[in-house]
Amino acid sequence: MTEKALWWQKGIIYQIYPRSYQDRTGNGIGDLWGVRERLDYIVDLGVDAIWFSPIYPSPMKDFGYDVSDYVDINPMFGGMDAFDRLLEDAHKKGLKVIIDLVPNHTSDQHAWFKESRCSKDNPKRDWYIWADPKPDGSPPNNWLSFFGGPAWTYDEKTEQYYLHQFVPEQPELNYRNPEVKQAMLDVIDFWMKKGVDGLRVDVIWLMMKDEQLRDNPPNPDWDGVNPFNSIIHKYNMGLPEVHDLIKEFRAVLDRYPDRFMVGEIYQPNEELMTYYGDNDECHTPYNMQLINTEWNAKKVREAVDAYEAILPEGAQPNWVLGNHDQHRTASRIGRDQARVANMLLLTLRGTPTTYYGEELGMTNAVIPPEFVQDPPAVNQPEIAHIVGRDPERTPMQWDDSPNAGFSEAGVQTWLPVNENYLYINVKEEKEDEFSFLALYKALTKLRRTEPALNMGSYRSVDAGDDEIFAFVREYEGEDSFLVVLNFTNRIKTLDMSEISRTAEIAVSTDMLSEGPVKLGALIMAGNQGLVLRI
Ligand code: NOJ
Repeated sequence: MTEKALWWQKGIIYQIYPRSYQDRTGNGIGDLWGVRERLDYIVDLGVDAIWFSPIYPSPMKDFGYDVSDYVDINPMFGGMDAFDRLLEDAHKKGLKVIIDLVPNHTSDQHAWFKESRCSKDNPKRDWYIWADPKPDGSPPNNWLSFFGGPAWTYDEKTEQYYLHQFVPEQPELNYRNPEVKQAMLDVIDFWMKKGVDGLRVDVIWLMMKDEQLRDNPPNPDWDGVNPFNSIIHKYNMGLPEVHDLIKEFRAVLDRYPDRFMVGEIYQPNEELMTYYGDNDECHTPYNMQLINTEWNAKKVREAVDAYEAILPEGAQPNWVLGNHDQHRTASRIGRDQARVANMLLLTLRGTPTTYYGEELGMTNAVIPPEFVQDPPAVNQPEIAHIVGRDPERTPMQWDDSPNAGFSEAGVQTWLPVNENYLYINVKEEKEDEFSFLALYKALTKLRRTEPALNMGSYRSVDAGDDEIFAFVREYEGEDSFLVVLNFTNRIKTLDMSEISRTAEIAVSTDMLSEGPVKLGALIMAGNQGLVLRI
């Protein structure tokens, strides 16, 4: 890669869940006017691009992932006017804007589905996946919804079932119909023309389904916890045909300069790699391993090394610690290790994505029963603590005023503000030179300025201790860095003199240690991570 790396190759992505970032209209739900006011904060974080979870008109049955119009902005978020101004301001400030494209399913309130469900001979009938009941009246096959229950809903009027792998109000489009494909290509073209810089494509690996709608095989390894995992999703995910469709999406982006497409995919490495295509599918398919891998140095090193080893030549890696579907990092691994995790995220090779609030060390909130609203949690109370996503979607914590500066005092926010906002918030952390936020900014600053960190090679190294993960980043003719991460809360003394005799601390997770160190006897405090200039 040359110095002229593209923005998404060098840059850091910051994910905003729009309902929870900043409420300006005073209804307890975030909006784009609010985000616009916070752009300077985002620039100051040292990130390069914002990814917005869906902001389209939507009945909000799945909080925006049920889209009723792909070429407009929800009035609740400020409508197209707010978006246009936000886009303009973001660009002026040097930020790129990535929007979420949700092509797999629409809302049942989308005009396409309203037509489709009218009658069996409606011209849009075949835009969705309809099938006859089995002779006993049951659903056409055994496919399950991610959110609990069958993936099929019966339509009394036309006496057929339609497919939905999420809530019943999210019917799935039929991409075997060329008109559907063309309609979605037109949607992509609309946003490219408007000047958005990229797309995060929702459940991209789910877009094609078995033509014969065959039953999925049972999963012999099911642990009995989440019924969704009781079958192997062979015929409804990752079908070979999906790659042709993704190529057509990409071809639209490629008609415009510097556009970026990242696909949401939860698949093992071998499968994941196929979504790069021949550099004609995703620029990078989301790599969720830091979320799914057990948090210990050995397992994480193995995961990083395996991913690095299997990446096709020239393919752009990426790393994610959290998103709106995953419990917050600081709750999964503890706040002390979350600092180490942020250091890892921001020093690995490839595009990092940070979920809003993770720069502060925000944690999952306890959601009182009357506030639980995420469909998988509502539908399956017995496993709500595992599948529910409300805890990680609570309002951004800006300061210690009532409602944490997210909404005016006295407003009922759509999800409760986490009680720890009194001490985990932007204002507090800005004033504290040792804070989570201070660490995050020190890391982004270093990453932005050092070619070894934003473009250099990666090589893991032995620290002589399984509980330490260490690696070297290098770029020809520039300073190199050794990153050493202590995954335990115990002091460690390491001999890393094979790498270099001395080194200089560039960033320490405690934001305290500095100066030269001798690598022959490197002392690491518990939960400490170091980026060392060597
Ligand atoms: C994946 C999204 O990230 C999630 O939030 C959503 O519920 C489903 N896709 C359905 O769109």
